[in-house]
Amino acid sequence: MRLLGLVGSLRRASHNRALLRAIAAELPDGVMLEEYPRLGDLPLFNSELELPEPVADLKAAIAAADGLVFVTPEYNYSIPGVLKNAIDWASRPPSTSPLRGKPCGLASTSVGISGGMRAQYHLRQILLYTNTLAMVQPEVIIPHSKERFSDELTITDEPTRALLARFGAELVAWVRKLAP
Ligand code: FNR
Repeated sequence: MRLLGLVGSLRRASHNRALLRAIAAELPDGVMLEEYPRLGDLPLFNSELELPEPVADLKAAIAAADGLVFVTPEYNYSIPGVLKNAIDWASRPPSTSPLRGKPCGLASTSVGISGGMRAQYHLRQILLYTNTLAMVQPEVIIPHSKERFSDELTITDEPTRALLARFGAELVAWVRKLAP
């Protein structure tokens, strides 16, 4: 099984990227999760542009994946523009969008107390339109990221690691259940 990670932060030292890596490390044997590395290469959405190369690359990567993992910080109570822009590109045209029917899991972390939950619930709303099949539970909402990750961006908190292992196992079952 191959899962594709879409991270809403472009920061190299992003806690959300670290969260994606931590999720990947807890997945069962035989399941691969890799981050899509080029979200920052996408132009801003403009329907007058013919399929730009980075957009074609993103859509092909989504189409090739068995499932997606969105890991995102919260910016102003929503998802960052980087991630929304990627979803907007991948969602067009709707009839052939690789997001349609694709199973996915959601996770977020933030330095603050809310753990990015508002962004995550907003993302769930966005994924309704794209008909992307978001797993419901367990929710991965990690507050106070600076206390849960070391300076080397590894998880320092055992209950968090255990939650990620459960999330990974449930996500694999979710993807298998929805496999075409
Ligand atoms: C934020 N941050 C933030 N945090 C939050 O909990 N709710 C919010 O609405 C916002 N808004 C917001 C807007 C903008 C423009 C920035 C840059 C930041 C804080 C942000 O979620 C926090 O820095 C994350 O930990 C950043 O994630 P990465 O880059 O470490 O993955």
